Amino acid sequence: MGKSRVVYRCTECASATPKWGGRCAVCEAWNSLVEETEGAPVAAPTGPSSPAMPIGQVDAQCSQPHPTGIAELDRVLGGGLVPGSVTLLGGEPGIGKSTLLLQLLAKWPQRTLYVSAEESAQQVRLRAERLDAVRPELWLLPETSLPHILAAIDAVQPQLVVIDSIQTIADPAVPSAPGSVVQVRGCAHRLVAEAKRRNLPVLMVGHVTKEGGLAGPRVLEHIVDTVLSFEGDRHHSLRLLRATKHRFGPTNELGVFAMEGEGLVGVPDASSLFLTDRRTGVPGSAITPTLEGQRPLLVEVQALTNKVHATGVPPRRSAQGLDGGRLALLLAVLERRARMVMGEFEVFASAVGGVRLTEPGADLALCTALVSALTERPLLPEVVVFGEVGLAGEVRQVAHAERRLAEAARMGFTRAIVPANSPRSTTGIALTRVGSVAEALVAAGLSGRAGS
Ligand code: TYD
Ligand code: MG
Repeated sequence: MGKSRVVYRCTECASATPKWGGRCAVCEAWNSLVEETEGAPVAAPTGPSSPAMPIGQVDAQCSQPHPTGIAELDRVLGGGLVPGSVTLLGGEPGIGKSTLLLQLLAKWPQRTLYVSAEESAQQVRLRAERLDAVRPELWLLPETSLPHILAAIDAVQPQLVVIDSIQTIADPAVPSAPGSVVQVRGCAHRLVAEAKRRNLPVLMVGHVTKEGGLAGPRVLEHIVDTVLSFEGDRHHSLRLLRATKHRFGPTNELGVFAMEGEGLVGVPDASSLFLTDRRTGVPGSAITPTLEGQRPLLVEVQALTNKVHATGVPPRRSAQGLDGGRLALLLAVLERRARMVMGEFEVFASAVGGVRLTEPGADLALCTALVSALTERPLLPEVVVFGEVGLAGEVRQVAHAERRLAEAARMGFTRAIVPANSPRSTTGIALTRVGSVAEALVAAGLSGRAGS
């Protein structure tokens, strides 16, 4: 054991410095340095050494994913859990991480071990009863000490392990408080090594708070194979699951759940959920068929504009579920290329239902929603809008138009405003092809200008 000393560790990038400061010198994060007593450095994991071999001789079979039995989770994971993989499930407290993982364990065909480092065995048992997860091959260990956890894995020989949570377990050999970066990273390294050695899939819960107060997840992202993030508004039942890092598949798939009395229920038909509370005939609303990975989703984009009388202060622009920079760009395009004077209006724009619209295919819907709000003219209720908008005001094609239109048709929409060179559609939806934002506004009945 080396002599212990105090260092200041960055909770974002895990770099250490002997002197405290308001900003990490390495990754430039603000207020991320926490005091820590550092003992002997945590030994790097030493797995079994394997010889080099021709790539064709590598067995690809053993990294086939095993379906979890939870369709929305499998969708995000690209088929299921890969043996020996380590997955971090991040999310704010109370979002439903423990619930999801308990449901997963209950569905797993072989023996599983749930390490509860936060809740007592009784609490977990009660929750398991509620979730109908009490089954003989689900083993439970209320424990926070890493050596005891490893011993239990040896004794129980599970085929799937859940650690709930990585921030609350600790290795007594490491002279640092539970939850500190050194502990979290050390424990995670050790668990990753075990997972690889035993070819055992391991899932770890990682808490993230809005303030980023807890140590961990950023640091852990580099260590694990997959990072899942579980999001949603605690006041609503909707929960969205995404992979932000995935070594075994795509990272853009979206899983949709609803938190019900009997646990998390998959929502295969998310479009109808997002459109449930929609009111038609109201200005400032446009429906866009967006793609989340392979999944088409109909999302309502809303906008509100409000004339401000104060001079000298730039009017407010606020974007929820949309990129603020994109909103600013589109407002400029509307002003310069479609003569929609937005300068003296406060603008609020949002994607409804807790979704984040990040793809440019939603540009045109946002533009029409903004102008609809400005002109106080509603769009026709049977219309969907999509297309990327360029700086010259041109409307550009987006990928998978047919899949978007099929989803719109399925939800009962009959007209679509689409980029001029979109491919022909067999969905039966009447297409209005537009080459510019100005044309789109005319097509949407929001402007009499441009060409007509
Ligand atoms: P939990 O899984 O404990 O969240 P986390 O592990 O992310 O902190 O879920 C907590 C919330 O979920 C709690 O407020 C109650 C709610 N809940 C339900 O609505 N239905 C259920 O069946 C369960 C188990 C929890
Ligand atoms: Mg929990």
